Amino acid sequence: LSAAERAAVRALWTKLGSNVGVYATEALERTFLAFPTTKTYFPHLDLTPGSAQVKAHGQKVADALTRAVAHLDDLPTALWALSDLHVRQLRVDPVNFKLLGHCLLVTLARHYPGDFSPAMHASLEKFLSHVISTLASSYG
Ligand code: HEM
Repeated sequence: LSAAERAAVRALWTKLGSNVGVYATEALERTFLAFPTTKTYFPHLDLTPGSAQVKAHGQKVADALTRAVAHLDDLPTALWALSDLHVRQLRVDPVNFKLLGHCLLVTLARHYPGDFSPAMHASLEKFLSHVISTLASSYG
């Protein structure tokens, strides 16, 4: 990411503040609804809309994304344990990362339409694809 792209992502994250969990939860709900095969990884969770378990999981995803925003220069160090978890233990097919990334983008565009310039859109696409390729990197 260029300096301007990093600045855009950081600025939006500052604006999201403590609501990152709310939006990550909405993105998860959208993912489960729009791409139902993603639900097969969560047979042990209550995935009905508004579920407390999805909310709790959304907060975990949000915290990981916030950590990534804080470590844009070194995502592999920030995310290696999560990559190992998703690839080796959970065996998540990497196509699913893109589906969640897409839903995160849609969610942010919906809640922050005024901030969603083409440049912001492009910056977030780059950030998310960087996160996703780092998570998938344990496939070797
Ligand atoms: C767990 C982040 C994508 C499936 C987690 C956890 C985090 C996380 C932080 C909790 C880890 C822990 O408790 O130590 C992310 C991020 C993603 C992503 C940042 C992409 C941007 C996905 C996708 C799937 C998935 C696409 C499958 C469709 C799971 C499962 C768990 C998990 C099954 C364990 C849930 C549980 O039993 O509590 N993820 N995840 N993740 N993730 Fe992801």
